Amino acid sequence: MSGTETPIRGLGHSVRRKEDDRLLRGRGNFVDDIALPGMLHMALLRAPIAHARITAVDVEAAKAHPGVVAVVTGRDLDAHGLAWMPTLSGDTQAVLALDKVVFQGQEVAAVVAEDPYVASDALELIDVDYDPLPPVVDPNKALEPDAPLIREDKQGQTSNHINHWEKGDREATDRAFASADKVVRLETFYPRSHPAPLETCGCVADVDPATGKATIYMTSQAPHAHRTLFALVAGLPEQDIRIVSPDIGGGFGNKVPIYPGYVVATVASLLLGRPVKWVEDRTENLISTGFARDYHMTGEVALSSDGRILGLRSKVVADHGAFNAAAQPTKTPAGLFHIFAGSYDVPAAFCEVDAAYTNKAPGGIAYRCSFRVTEASFLIERLMQKAATELEIDPAELRRRNFIRPEQFPYRSVLGWEYDSGDYQRALDLALEKLGYQELRREQRERRQRGELMGIGIASFTEVVGAGHGADYDIAGLRMFDSAELRVHPTGKAILKVGVKTQGQGHETTFAQIVAGELGIPPEDVAVMHGDTDNTPYGLGTYASRSTPVGGAATAMVARKLREKAGRLAAHLLEVAEEDVEYAEGRFSVRGAPDQAKTIQEVAFAAYTNLPEGMEAGLEGVTYYDPPNMTFPFGTYCVVVDVDKGTGAWKVRKMVAVDDCGVRINPMIVEGQIHGGLAEGFAIAAMQQITFDEEGNCIGSNFTDYLLPTSWETPNFETHETVTPSPHHPIGAKGVGESPTVGSPAAYVNAVLDALAPLGITNIDMPVTSDKVWTAMHEKGFA
Ligand code: CDP
Repeated sequence: MSGTETPIRGLGHSVRRKEDDRLLRGRGNFVDDIALPGMLHMALLRAPIAHARITAVDVEAAKAHPGVVAVVTGRDLDAHGLAWMPTLSGDTQAVLALDKVVFQGQEVAAVVAEDPYVASDALELIDVDYDPLPPVVDPNKALEPDAPLIREDKQGQTSNHINHWEKGDREATDRAFASADKVVRLETFYPRSHPAPLETCGCVADVDPATGKATIYMTSQAPHAHRTLFALVAGLPEQDIRIVSPDIGGGFGNKVPIYPGYVVATVASLLLGRPVKWVEDRTENLISTGFARDYHMTGEVALSSDGRILGLRSKVVADHGAFNAAAQPTKTPAGLFHIFAGSYDVPAAFCEVDAAYTNKAPGGIAYRCSFRVTEASFLIERLMQKAATELEIDPAELRRRNFIRPEQFPYRSVLGWEYDSGDYQRALDLALEKLGYQELRREQRERRQRGELMGIGIASFTEVVGAGHGADYDIAGLRMFDSAELRVHPTGKAILKVGVKTQGQGHETTFAQIVAGELGIPPEDVAVMHGDTDNTPYGLGTYASRSTPVGGAATAMVARKLREKAGRLAAHLLEVAEEDVEYAEGRFSVRGAPDQAKTIQEVAFAAYTNLPEGMEAGLEGVTYYDPPNMTFPFGTYCVVVDVDKGTGAWKVRKMVAVDDCGVRINPMIVEGQIHGGLAEGFAIAAMQQITFDEEGNCIGSNFTDYLLPTSWETPNFETHETVTPSPHHPIGAKGVGESPTVGSPAAYVNAVLDALAPLGITNIDMPVTSDKVWTAMHEKGFA
């Protein structure tokens, strides 16, 4: 066996993405590419109005339509005990509506046909009589005592209030506010947004009538958890369910929940004995699948006259839509919102959140974020900007005065977090230096004298990613660990199977690099498999940037297990004692005699051909990793904007992003993740929201209303890094994928508000469109 001829390229190398060859050539394999013999097609009839009783459903004409094989209604499902399903927050959601619809776009009936177009056409032949009820659109109004009751199906539910949750020390916080020199208050709304992945949701359900085995090809970010939930809900034996999540065209949290379409397609396949495909269209995706955010927030910060934060409090009304389907694995109803002290050393804090039902689609997913950290981060960073303006302290300086200092880590926050590591000042200083901050402030003063509107926005965010640990984070009781199984074959090539599931983030490359870093097998020699529940170890899936913190850690740990055995094998081959063998970069050598060495490839061959007495053959293992803590990536984003006085249009002149995600496995992939997230953050800040008219009609049901940024609108990004390793992660890495969506919206908004500060404008809610800016200026008499 020859040694390693190719460079190993483990951690820190910008290895080209292995998966791109296949994806860029159009050779990906997505759910909609799957075609099975005898496959049928399903389409869903959706409610045209937001709140109504169903008085009659007539499906006879649809059933009689040529090519239609079956029509399924809520009543049909009810006969099998399947009309309702649990949500990820323990609520119940109608699979197909029975007596009432509670949001526009709700699933009412399904047509299964030989052809997808026939299935869609036949929907029009279903006659549903609706008796309209008053829609409840505003969550604050939903909580009023005389609001129409949305969830009549829930026993004991007498209002639209879902839950109240609070965290922190209310009295201590009140005392801090009473002693403050200055209290700054901000009311803001983080609008409902939608991940809008390139690929919508769908499945092909194939229940084999001969074996009873259900194979479900599904757009799933969490195939193992979904299989267990299917087993629990449908009562199918878990070993008879196989979920295959093939290539996924973007998830961003949208493919975490179980949607009614998956359930109905599976039931239809079970009843008809043929595979059934369901793939939603763009409008269905936007109006009925998991939305994100929708937080009405009031934040207050108590300060001393020299700008020290004394206390922080917030009050939130959360709009959860018609079913409480918030996708979050914590034991607290508002997820991780209590990270809202952000990067600051805050002595007293208190937050409370009330959640309400409204006549809107359910959701509350973690759209490229960790379960409400986005809202929390936005609130504190907007508050810091407002406080800086009111105290007339430079916003960078105000942050500096309040940052958690490097020597305070691991830092126990007043709201119960243990931040693992950080150096916030370093990230801020680097961002300011790269921006040319002092010079820009000087330019701003000059421009202001000329009556021009230029703004500089800063956000120094702290993220919290990597759920679990298992004791505190679970999905329906499933503890949030993750797993990796590694086998090195006789020729030194390896297969790594992981419980997490890539949706475009490049795991096939970066996870192979982790193995390369630990075992010295080059990444191209490590095939990474994921997404098939029959062929990968159990895992909780990919969302909330947990892959690297948890699945990446499991990968490093399993590789170390194999390295330990490989060391013993090498000792046997080199005929020395185990303790005399040392490892470096794919070579096991004799201590003090580096020329006497065996490569990992030679050792792997020996694992199948030349074993010491009593050693089990093979070189493989599995690790289930339960992280001791979350990881806390951070950074500073700075934005410079110019606002046009005549139109309110604003343009990003410069955007500098400094990210610290600990050790970077693949700097190029990290940079790609940051670019994508900054573009999404810009879209949320500047142009997109899912909104509703007063009848509950969804405005934002297509890409002419719900705007995606093209290269035309997207600013240029300048990215930089600092590296503060996570002390508890085996390779010191933290997650990164969501940092830019979490951190950047406040930076953009702060920049516009900084430009408008001389006009006395203190807040504009996202999306900060030019007409909102113009209107705000107009109201102040400036436009
Ligand atoms: O869970 P998800 O994959 O969405 O997010 P992530 O863990 O933040 O990783 C996104 C991508 O960036 C993956 O390919 C990671 O392996 C890579 N990454 C990296 O190269 N170095 C880091 N420190 C963090 C992530």
